[in-house]
Amino acid sequence: MSSNDPLLQPYKLKHLTLKNRIMMTSHEPAYPENGMPKERYLAYHLERAKAGVALTMTAGSATVSRDSPPVFNNILAYKDEVVPYLRDMTDACHEHGCAVMLQLTHLGRRTGWNKGDWLPAVSPSHRREASHRSFPKKIEDWDIDRIIRDYADAAERMCAAGLDGIELQAYGHLMDQFWSPLTNTLEAPYGGSLENRIRFTLDVLQAIRNRVGAKFIVGVRYTADEVFAGGITPTEGIEISKILRDTGQVDFLNVIRGRIDTDAALTDVIPIMGMKSSPHLDFASAVREATNFPVFHGAKISDVATARHAIAEGKLDMVGMTRAHMADPHLVRKIMQGKEADIRPCVGANYCLDRIYQAGDALCIHNAATGRELTMPHDITKADIRKKVVIIGAGPGGLEAARVAAERGHHVIVLEAAAHPGGQIRLTAQSPRRVEMMEIINWRMAQCEARDVEFHFNTWAQADDVNNLKPDVVIVATGGMPDTDVLSSGNELAVSSWDIISGDVKLGKNVLIFDDAGDHPALQAAEILANSGAKVEIMTPDRSFSPDVMAMNLVPYMRSLQDKDVTFTVTYRVESARRVSYENGDESSHKSSHKSSHKSSDQIEVTLSSDYGTIKKTRLVDQLVINHGTLPLDDLYFELKEHSSNQGELDHTAFIEGLPQVSVRNPSGLYQLFRIGDAVAARNTHAAIYDGLRLAKDI
Ligand SMILES: Cc1cc2nc3c(=O)[nH]c(=O)nc-3n(C[C@H](O)[C@H](O)[C@H](O)COP(=O)(O)O)c2cc1C
Ligand code: SF4
Repeated sequence: MSSNDPLLQPYKLKHLTLKNRIMMTSHEPAYPENGMPKERYLAYHLERAKAGVALTMTAGSATVSRDSPPVFNNILAYKDEVVPYLRDMTDACHEHGCAVMLQLTHLGRRTGWNKGDWLPAVSPSHRREASHRSFPKKIEDWDIDRIIRDYADAAERMCAAGLDGIELQAYGHLMDQFWSPLTNTLEAPYGGSLENRIRFTLDVLQAIRNRVGAKFIVGVRYTADEVFAGGITPTEGIEISKILRDTGQVDFLNVIRGRIDTDAALTDVIPIMGMKSSPHLDFASAVREATNFPVFHGAKISDVATARHAIAEGKLDMVGMTRAHMADPHLVRKIMQGKEADIRPCVGANYCLDRIYQAGDALCIHNAATGRELTMPHDITKADIRKKVVIIGAGPGGLEAARVAAERGHHVIVLEAAAHPGGQIRLTAQSPRRVEMMEIINWRMAQCEARDVEFHFNTWAQADDVNNLKPDVVIVATGGMPDTDVLSSGNELAVSSWDIISGDVKLGKNVLIFDDAGDHPALQAAEILANSGAKVEIMTPDRSFSPDVMAMNLVPYMRSLQDKDVTFTVTYRVESARRVSYENGDESSHKSSHKSSHKSSDQIEVTLSSDYGTIKKTRLVDQLVINHGTLPLDDLYFELKEHSSNQGELDHTAFIEGLPQVSVRNPSGLYQLFRIGDAVAARNTHAAIYDGLRLAKDI
């Protein structure tokens, strides 16, 4: 695309020229070390700055006060020691013409009291926030004075670090807890009328301006519609927007629609796969129209066409493409080079965000180099020696290995037993809500095809087939098959969650799903069963269900399951199962029969136990589904071992440190042999892709 691309036009914000219209909105990837943005943090932002993003709003909820302890390893902006780290990052990004700002906040009630300095959370009411569970202290006058000072101190630190500006977070945090009648039960001067409820924000802005002067850029990222009865209405939101503009102390508005006090509400603010694209764009545009003021916005504007539309139609001044940049840090460069088709798409899996809410770091489900810029390359370098690399399996791990090996310049051959690529992701994509996952496969197939990778589908590879290809390196990425062999008796009566998802078995009417893996297939199977009208009970021996699905990914499942005949039972496990038949209401025989062909009068009696005691219970169902991960499909790997020079050995130190694998256990071996992903042990898509990248980048 040439330079008349609306997205590539510069934008003047006050004295600052942003070189194009694409920004990363504030997002804390939880990479700080002891609250400080060190090397890893810098490398993450620098990678994207180098590739052309105009503005990076760093941090996310960097905290200004000690009684606002981070909820996901955010930057501690209340410490002076943050300044040199931020200066390093800012200087590095500036060298590439990327403007750097940072989001400051006080979380108010949206945090916990039992960490950091063990201070109570504060808020303009005692009302608890569902997500973070604190019952806050109702804020006092001296708290207000203190926190206003803290904001000003933090802003001064940002100025000292050479940042181009800051934005204040006001959705779900202390600032808008003052705004919203739902969370403000104070009397005047900070409670009551809108004028009073916004007073705290105006006081903070004044204090900041007193400290940093008029030139430093200050914006507000705020909810202009809480989409909840009794909360901030769109009309009030527009009024707030105008008040902010009219202070003369605010330089841009970064518009949010919604609230974030529950997982479900948060998911509507930051929509995930299967949800509408750019759902709040028109609302943000309405704020721009009403205020005639610089408006930034991002919420699932993940493709370039939608971003371009947002700018071309004058809906926004700057468009946020945040997760899109996590998936592909070189997005802007690819637009500039006219290589949009090469952009690795954000599929909305929300692995990134869900992980930070589980105290992890933000990782992209299908870009294993994101957040690992210090060790993993986004650009693959060519190898000195061209090798023949044979990969068995065209699931996500195998295809990642194929893509990376092909970029290294190797001759890559992929053998796949199925007719199509995708492995487990094809199953995932059976759910209409999760078809975007196929983009993980489609993007890799396109990358491989552009580099002449040879694909052989419908090919069940045998050891001889592999040996006859005379490879230098063999990578077994054959995945796994469901393991349902977990009962003390009656395993043959159970079907797997995959059987349900793939349509390989008839759906039951009264179904028990025993899920001790806690990942997507159990809920996906439940959704299929419930949609068919079945009564479904999902049972886990754990103390909560579906822990690996995680917070925001759970939301669409619950929306789909809760209005159906679905129940959840925790702390029970299925111990055994047996077939029983009833005649005239009496049990007449007990015998096993093979799976899926039972008569409607047949039932499965399931015996339940609990890890918490000796209790036993029974259930009568007509279908028992087990979700217990996979067992590796590793026969071929073990057949190939003896022919290989390393006998399959993976040198972990070399693997971790990014060095070539050089282990030799069998000097007469014909090739190096490795296996990756679920062919080793049941893990997840990210693990398989990380294996593929880590291994292939050094071949
Ligand atoms: C890992 C991660 C952390 C985030 N943390 C913050 C945050 O601290 N403050 C904030 O305002 N938004 C945060 N966000 C939301 C993003 O700024 C953005 O609104 C959201 O990702 C939707 O935009 P997108 O569809 O372009 O990704 C975060 C997003 C991600 C992915
Ligand atoms: S994990 Fe999913 S939502 Fe997050 S950046 Fe990667 S593809 Fe996008």
